[in-house]
Amino acid sequence: IIWYVGPLDTSLSPFLFLIADLAFFSLFLLYDSGSGLSGLASTLTSVVHVPYTSIPGFAESTVAGHTSSLAFGFLSSIPVVACLGRFHTYEGHSASTCVFPTRVLALLGIRALIVTNAAGGLNPSFSVGTIMAIHDHLSLPTLTSMNPLIGANLDAFGPRFPPLSNAYSLDLRLALYRAAQKLNLLPSLASGTYAYVLGPSYESRADANFLRSVGADAVGMSTVPEVIAATHAGIKVLAISLITNNVVLHDYFDFQKAIEQEQNGGEKVEETIQKLIAKDTQGAANHEEVLEAGKARAEDMSRLVAEIVRSTDV
Ligand code: 6GU
Repeated sequence: IIWYVGPLDTSLSPFLFLIADLAFFSLFLLYDSGSGLSGLASTLTSVVHVPYTSIPGFAESTVAGHTSSLAFGFLSSIPVVACLGRFHTYEGHSASTCVFPTRVLALLGIRALIVTNAAGGLNPSFSVGTIMAIHDHLSLPTLTSMNPLIGANLDAFGPRFPPLSNAYSLDLRLALYRAAQKLNLLPSLASGTYAYVLGPSYESRADANFLRSVGADAVGMSTVPEVIAATHAGIKVLAISLITNNVVLHDYFDFQKAIEQEQNGGEKVEETIQKLIAKDTQGAANHEEVLEAGKARAEDMSRLVAEIVRSTDV
């Protein structure tokens, strides 16, 4: 491969600055550090790294000490690009800044996006370590204000009003199913709807109850902006959530209910409170727990993605 990292040619497009063999790269991988794919990126062969700082238009990561680059290489002889480092809306970037890498790769001719994330489980049948194929999303930020496609439509990518009803490729979800079957991971596999929230705070109890009651199976702070930009650009998407913690849908201390219960000869208010205190010490989401669960599943996530890349034509 001959690489030419050239100056920005604004007559082509504000996004096209890296001139490569455009039809060559068939896949790109995008992942959150919590979901365990960094090991997979390090197995790419014939790698060429292009640091984000050398690419006009890429944001600066707010994650200290993080290597941020595009890694072009091969995974089982399939050409791929891995995004080492990702931009999130909770870092203060606009949604369109967050999808800049997606659009650059769209212009490089990428045909499929595999995106992974760490997410909190809202579906009570999920456990820590469940691998959830995202089959749809629920996204208050993009419905109300933070849509990456806001602004003049970039016709070179796609239409003004792109549909999202088939954003999550059925073909690629089938490929995930087959890969999980082959690797004996079916017991950990699930599918569901991913709720995108801005973060960086985790959900309040009412937030979590709300998201569950409107049909979400998992909740996280990434992925949806990139999926929208990729879908707009005609790129097939496979999105996978690694469930890193269960979102506990707690009871509250309901004064009236507790008092009535005691008056009707049931549990004493003091006992109710003690039970709630015991429960309250469990279940608060924390970042360490998320990273830990990601590490435990890193190998499986990597093997799954490698198998999908190897076995799937896009
Ligand atoms: Cl519980 N919430 C959100 N918003 N993101 C997460 C998470 C929870 N667990 C991992 N990522």
